[in-house]
Amino acid sequence: MREGVSPPGFLREAAAGKSRKRRLTRRAFLKSLAALALAAGGGYGYVFHYASYAPVVTRRTFRLRGLPPAFAGLRIVQLTDLHHSEIVPLAYLESCVDRVNQLAPDVVLLTGDYVTMDREVGRARTRENFVAPLAGLFQRIRARLGVFAVLGNHDVAAAFYETREVMAAAGVSLLQDENLRLEIDGARLALVGLRDYGTQMVNTERAFQGIQPDEPVLVMMHNPDLFPEMDETRNALILAGHTHGGQVRVPFYGPLPQYIPSSYGSRYAEGVFSRGNLTMLVNRGLGMIRAPVRFNCRPEIALVVLEA
Ligand SMILES: [Fe+2]
Repeated sequence: MREGVSPPGFLREAAAGKSRKRRLTRRAFLKSLAALALAAGGGYGYVFHYASYAPVVTRRTFRLRGLPPAFAGLRIVQLTDLHHSEIVPLAYLESCVDRVNQLAPDVVLLTGDYVTMDREVGRARTRENFVAPLAGLFQRIRARLGVFAVLGNHDVAAAFYETREVMAAAGVSLLQDENLRLEIDGARLALVGLRDYGTQMVNTERAFQGIQPDEPVLVMMHNPDLFPEMDETRNALILAGHTHGGQVRVPFYGPLPQYIPSSYGSRYAEGVFSRGNLTMLVNRGLGMIRAPVRFNCRPEIALVVLEA
């Protein structure tokens, strides 16, 4: 009989209201939890995957005084700081090269740090696992007038000779304080490649040998810290890398200077700089070091178009 007895109405309503309230609370809590998990997952995905492995093509036009008309409209793609390693896989770099090829470059300039010097990984493993596969990667690049390169501090420290061999095998011209002339229909444009300022002795006199003082010139160098020491009367467009844009950029603040390998803090973290007749572009690079994280600092493929 007890089971058949209904509670008074006011008690029934109170009980129903209470349980409805509890159900709503639980649902709201689960919803919030799901939203939090989604946000955290999305944030995690953004920081650790999308932002770190989704290069942006930056397009800039530069006027180079005295540029031979045959070179007007020249399409240069600069790649830098690939840092092929356990946190920067070859498949990602291959996809970057495919993107470069779609841009139909006339010239591709590589400005150093193709691997990472990591004591825990060791030189032997770095050479075998990360330097050797670069030959195939470099061969994949399509550029009408060729692929040219300089070395970065990590290449010099980890695999100086092996990187040179890989480049030679892949048909990449490595310039170590040397210059050459690009040629289109008999017209010529000077291209200089400098040694790495951080790990090698740079001899700019040797590098610019044979180039007239007012001649327009393209310069490849790894470390932008050399910029303040360069002859500002040179009519030069300089392409550099090394700083990774800071790799992690705090919103409304920018990169943390203590994490940028430069004597000038975050001054040359990324972007375009001018001094006298010199213009320098600092590219954020494709890879990462220390951790597979880029934040607010997407990898960069720089497309430069020259104007007379
Ligand atoms: Fe680097």
